[in-house]
Amino acid sequence: MSKHTVNTDQQRHIQYNTDVQPEQWQYFIGDVFDTGDLKNDKYPLVDDEPKYDPSIHLNIVEPEFVVLLNNNFQRVKHAPAIDFEQGVYKSQVAYTAPFRILSDEGYKVLKSIIKREFINCEGDQRQPNRIRHIGYRSKWIRDFNRCPIVLEFLTKLCGSNEPLMATTLKSSYSHTNIGLVDPTKNIDQWHVDSVPYVIIILACDMTNTIGGELQLIEREKQEALKLIAEYNGEIPDEYVQNIDFGGAGSVIFMQGCEIAHRVKPVLAGTEPRLTVVNSYMSRNPFVTEKTRYNTFVYEPTCDYEFTLHKAWRAREQLKALMMYDKDWPSKENLIKRLNLVINELVDCRDLLNGTATDAIGFYDAKKKGMSAYDDTNFKVEKKVVNIQETGM
Ligand SMILES: [Fe+2]
Repeated sequence: MSKHTVNTDQQRHIQYNTDVQPEQWQYFIGDVFDTGDLKNDKYPLVDDEPKYDPSIHLNIVEPEFVVLLNNNFQRVKHAPAIDFEQGVYKSQVAYTAPFRILSDEGYKVLKSIIKREFINCEGDQRQPNRIRHIGYRSKWIRDFNRCPIVLEFLTKLCGSNEPLMATTLKSSYSHTNIGLVDPTKNIDQWHVDSVPYVIIILACDMTNTIGGELQLIEREKQEALKLIAEYNGEIPDEYVQNIDFGGAGSVIFMQGCEIAHRVKPVLAGTEPRLTVVNSYMSRNPFVTEKTRYNTFVYEPTCDYEFTLHKAWRAREQLKALMMYDKDWPSKENLIKRLNLVINELVDCRDLLNGTATDAIGFYDAKKKGMSAYDDTNFKVEKKVVNIQETGM
């Protein structure tokens, strides 16, 4: 039985309004939220890895181009800077050309940790083989996700003067998808992400792999979701962009919450297709909410992690109210700002007790329709992946 067995007709559907133009007081950079020290007995720390050292483990090389959400997915050299004066308030980057973040040594360490983590593989209707919660078990992964050098680089890539930080959901640090040869199963079904920004690191050599393509629909999100429904997931090539990773260790940056994407089945290959996904978000607590509760509702860490996420937003919004060097606020302005904070907390409470939902779901190829993560038939199962057989 699902965790929240409530009559969905009675649930309030939380819709976050993306069209609201921000006001001057909403340009505020909050403190980096630190879930780094959050522990959970289910996911104990493993102590057999090197210390993360950016001078050894990083070797950042810029992408050759970025692709913009606006202007019909136009390719440009750099993202246009975000201009708060004009009320433009979010990154326009859809995705980037492949680039590098890790050095050869960093890539080696990442691979050895992922290999160690194979015993924690799980699967569900969306992703047949994946590993989560690595950020709890690995200090290296934790430090890599929170690395200020990587964050500064990604912030620039977004064209943003609004710094990025690691997602507040520690369970999502370096989420890993494992693509085994199985022509019948997508490695990941059509979906939009439940976090604002991601990097996807290709952690394998795909020279001998057939299939396993990352596909994006280069259309506005709602239009893309309509196409998925209209064509039962098998969308004509003219709408779909296949993303070429530039070889082992290369990285794609993507505003995955704005672009529908999937990963096709691996048809043949000598080693598993491995991708490691790091998630990021803005440090501005007023940006439109893109982090979802429903997507992680079946995980034991979800309630507290999501509450921490909302507590961070509410706390930083209140802090912005306490900046005394700004214009003296009117009563109306104060009420508006208090309501924002109150709504963050009310949404959180209602999501936790099941009277509201923020489900965006995923395309379930078997059902030929969208599924949510609290549907009664959504099941997470432990998976056994034999490393010897995979050729790693
Ligand atoms: Fe995704």
